[in-house]
Amino acid sequence: MRQVRLGRTEIEITPIGLGCWQFSRAHGYVGRFWDDLPAQRIREIVAVSLQGGIDWFDTAEVYGWGRSELALAEALRANGVKPGEVVVATKWFPFLRTARSIGRTIGDRLEALGGFPIGLHQIHAPVSFSGVRGEMKVMARLVREGRIGSIGVSNYTAGQMRRAHAALQRDGLVLASNQVKFSLLQRKIERNGVLETAKELGVTIIAFSPLAQGILSGKYHDDPGLIKERPGPRKSMSAFKQSALHRTRPLIDELRAIAAAHGATPSQVALNWLTRIHGDTVVVIPGAVNVEQARENACALDLTLDADEMQRLDRLSLKVERPR
Ligand SMILES: NC(=O)c1ccc[n+]([C@@H]2O[C@H](COP(=O)([O-])OP(=O)(O)OC[C@H]3O[C@@H](n4cnc5c(N)ncnc54)[C@H](OP(=O)(O)O)[C@@H]3O)[C@@H](O)[C@H]2O)c1
Repeated sequence: MRQVRLGRTEIEITPIGLGCWQFSRAHGYVGRFWDDLPAQRIREIVAVSLQGGIDWFDTAEVYGWGRSELALAEALRANGVKPGEVVVATKWFPFLRTARSIGRTIGDRLEALGGFPIGLHQIHAPVSFSGVRGEMKVMARLVREGRIGSIGVSNYTAGQMRRAHAALQRDGLVLASNQVKFSLLQRKIERNGVLETAKELGVTIIAFSPLAQGILSGKYHDDPGLIKERPGPRKSMSAFKQSALHRTRPLIDELRAIAAAHGATPSQVALNWLTRIHGDTVVVIPGAVNVEQARENACALDLTLDADEMQRLDRLSLKVERPR
């Protein structure tokens, strides 16, 4: 798989990374979105991702309060990966905390990752008791101390990105990335200035929920009852409701038609589109709960969509997506 630059850092990553929220071991509110995946399954998901060429992994403190980081590190070791051979991105959980806790918790993050360096440390959301400048000050210190490789944010608005970028510039550093929700069914960042600002500042957009949490695979359109079998709060989300599935069906039909022409799957076409529509600005981090999904997603760049296919998806997506 080709590589792209992470923001204006020296770090190179593949346009597809593996989202590791699914490795939370069903621990904590956020972790309860997914079943407790057995350690062997996690090892195999990581194995097929590596085989597909993926060279970076996105986890977070709040994904099972360290359990995802632990599981990822264990799986990497089990697959013979040495520290430094892949990029690990994690996140500080800001809720009800001040920026000081970034420094206080970094040791726990590094310990959970068991020797795998943090290539990218991210502020999970702009909700701490401290401002953007205070958070960036601590992050910059962690870079200077060699405890993290680069600095990212998540769920930041265009204005917050600018403030983070300016604060880091004063320290001679750059804002590497903003991790935000972006898919064929969620294109808000194209309207609210986040994407435009990322392009202007040279910040990578890390698209989370790039498959709209599985909806773009088409399986919930085929069997809307399937979501009831899934754990956690996903079943009450509006995108999984009958009316929403009815609205988005034309996009799934188009994904299927294009996928059939390439001997691919709708998920692969959806991921491929997302990594191409804005050049190298956008990278994606699909999560997987089994080996088949991980293998499929890791191979999403094996096909080439032509300009007409890209445009058809673009138009249809804007038609069925409900602007929020
Ligand atoms: N920064 C943030 O605030 C934030 C928020 C959310 C996520 N994230 C990150 O982004 C990553 C991905 O986001 P996400 O998990 O929300 O959504 P996603 O990647 O769009 O969807 C993942 C889910 O879709 C289903 N799926 C995946 N590949 C599939 C395939 N090929 N065929 C059929 N079904 C497939 C699986 O669940 P089922 O089989 O159960 O349908 C899987 O758990 C997370 O792991 C996490 O690292 C970050």
